[in-house]
Amino acid sequence: MPAKKSKVVVVGSLNIDQVFRVADLPARGETVTANDFQCLRGGKGANQAISAARQNVDVAMIGCVGKDDSGTKYVEYLEKEEGIDVTGISKSKAPTGTAFIAVEEDSGENTIIVAGGANEGLSHSLISDQQSLIESASVLLVQLEIPVHSVIEAINIATRSGVPVVLNPSPMIPNFPWDDFSIPYVIVNETEVEELLDFQPDTNDLEFVRQEIYDRRIENLIVTRGSETTLVYTREGDFFEVEPLPVLPIDTVGAGDAFAGCFAARIAGGESVEDGVRAANCAGALTTLGGGAQNPVPDREKVDLHVEQIPKRKKFPGRR
Ligand code: RIB
Repeated sequence: MPAKKSKVVVVGSLNIDQVFRVADLPARGETVTANDFQCLRGGKGANQAISAARQNVDVAMIGCVGKDDSGTKYVEYLEKEEGIDVTGISKSKAPTGTAFIAVEEDSGENTIIVAGGANEGLSHSLISDQQSLIESASVLLVQLEIPVHSVIEAINIATRSGVPVVLNPSPMIPNFPWDDFSIPYVIVNETEVEELLDFQPDTNDLEFVRQEIYDRRIENLIVTRGSETTLVYTREGDFFEVEPLPVLPIDTVGAGDAFAGCFAARIAGGESVEDGVRAANCAGALTTLGGGAQNPVPDREKVDLHVEQIPKRKKFPGRR
């Protein structure tokens, strides 16, 4: 009998991204003219689902789009072009979610405003209806761009049935109930980690970080830092950093999503946290080399071509 393929179930958002390329990001009260404008598929949930699917694991997505043309075409695209199981995607009366994104041409940095639309209709009961799909996963992957009670329901179903959870708490919210469950993997960027821990961790004060993640019942905290090393803190006291893939980014939108999707896929396939982060560092970096959140996301072959450039772990020099 052929081995069962690993499966990532993603619970999250789908947006249409309106992307404006600008010379400089607008300051408060300023009007700037875009040099280019595109409408592209996005949303943290769908971006992560695509990144996982391109790593050759089965992916199913639970989400909500509008009954509009863009929602219908989006779901068709995920199923036909990305091979994602879309039976868990519902349709709501609200319009498909929209994100307004400004990308600064020289740095590739961005600012994003999201109008959740149909994503807000992904209710607790729509998640409960998908209990068996979540239970069938090797890994559940969630973000915070949908109602938080729905995220909590998905995590509870997964936890009860022994499915490991990867949470990318983006955008971070102030009162997430960290105490309610133990989460195996939490992925944050530099901004989010500061919101989570109230300080910017580095390779020092390891005991302090370990206590903080213990208090929040996080088993492994992964901090992505763009062109700097990714930091990995485990509750057992193992701390290490993983080198990034050096690139010259032209658009950083979706890089964090590519990281999370690739990491979840690699963990679902049985790789170690360290190897998962090495592959995910490549997926994130390669995604910054093209425009938009989905088109440049690399497939498994491309990630594997680059992953050997990333050396094995560097132990933190700091105190244990
Ligand atoms: O993380 C990038 C994504 O954030 C964009 O695709 C946009 O839709 C917002 O959700």
